[in-house]
Amino acid sequence: MGEAWLESGAHGHETYAYDYGRSLLPGPDSGAGMWRYQGLLPRPDEPTSYPLPVGGTPLRAPGELRERLGLPGLWLKDETTGPSASNKDRATALVIDQGLRLGVKAVSTASTGNAAVSTAIGGAAAGMAVIIFVPADCAPAKVELMTAMGASVFRVREGYRAAFDLSRRAAAHFSWLDRCTGVSPLTVEAKKTVSFEVWEQLGARMPDVVVLPVGDGTTLIGAAKGFRELVACGVLAKVPRIIAVQAQGCAPLAWQWHGARAPAQWPGTVADGIEVPQPVVGDWAIEEVRLADGNFITVTDAEILDAVNLLSDAAQLASEPAGAAAVAGLRRASAAGLVTPGETVVAWVTGANLPTAPVTVERPGAAFTIKADLDAVAAALSLL
Ligand SMILES: Cc1ncc(COP(=O)(O)O)c(C=O)c1O
Repeated sequence: MGEAWLESGAHGHETYAYDYGRSLLPGPDSGAGMWRYQGLLPRPDEPTSYPLPVGGTPLRAPGELRERLGLPGLWLKDETTGPSASNKDRATALVIDQGLRLGVKAVSTASTGNAAVSTAIGGAAAGMAVIIFVPADCAPAKVELMTAMGASVFRVREGYRAAFDLSRRAAAHFSWLDRCTGVSPLTVEAKKTVSFEVWEQLGARMPDVVVLPVGDGTTLIGAAKGFRELVACGVLAKVPRIIAVQAQGCAPLAWQWHGARAPAQWPGTVADGIEVPQPVVGDWAIEEVRLADGNFITVTDAEILDAVNLLSDAAQLASEPAGAAAVAGLRRASAAGLVTPGETVVAWVTGANLPTAPVTVERPGAAFTIKADLDAVAAALSLL
């Protein structure tokens, strides 16, 4: 195992560092899925007791989509194949893996929807209580999935950022495992494993450019850290460019990147997974895009929905709007000359709406609509 320690980055958030070298990379006997990158994960060198499969998602070569977009070097990193059909399963697994070692009995998170569904599944499978904080307008179907899997769900009236802050306070107060994205350094560590997989799946090569959607920013930060660690380990000369995609209806980081002042109120977007008006690790994500010589672009809801259809028609891939946003962004990036046909490009497809709960429990959970207030949480939990 590589020794890992926490450092404080320039962005003010804690992040893990390692004594980098080739010996930390996996070998032929390293197993499958995310745990294969044991040398670059902050956990003891022992098998996980997390019960669900995680990572090892396909890198697809979408023939018809390549033709339609005029990009022969396009690949899709298909993150829709995990237990909750989104890329959130990696972070959920690494956080719960630690909780199981510590003997923690409950896990909580704030979420726009998918991290919550993922935590509800992972927590139920691992035998933990799950407490979720979502904005009050979170998709009802996602809330139903969470309660079907036994989670207690708090719909917070003041929106996602208030839900996030409340989730953190509640986790500290009740001693729950805190899976909140970005601020739990484990979430970045888990998400970086996507980049390791892309590198291996391309035959120990890197693409020229990657395109991914941005909500809070953790998916991007994780991907960027994975590439930087491959450079630090001495197997890669330089990191790929990163094109970050936001929905025009909620694009605070794209506006900040382009030096514009954000509107007081965003109109919203059909891509609920990336509808994050105040990203938790936004400055860090911007710094990573700069380090990777990248760019931010925005896409309309119509373009996002077109991308959902395109992925279905030309790549036989089901995706939800946030999951298809990178492909919408790729079309724009290609039209703007930010990506050229001779380049190797990987677009992240980050999620597909899960139709039904894969784990059902004897006693379903409950959903409460509350003000962002710790006493309201305590009162509701005492009713259970
Ligand atoms: C499907 C999907 N894609 C992308 C994202 C954005 O990820 P991040 O918040 O890490 O930027 C999310 C976040 O919830 C999501 O659900």
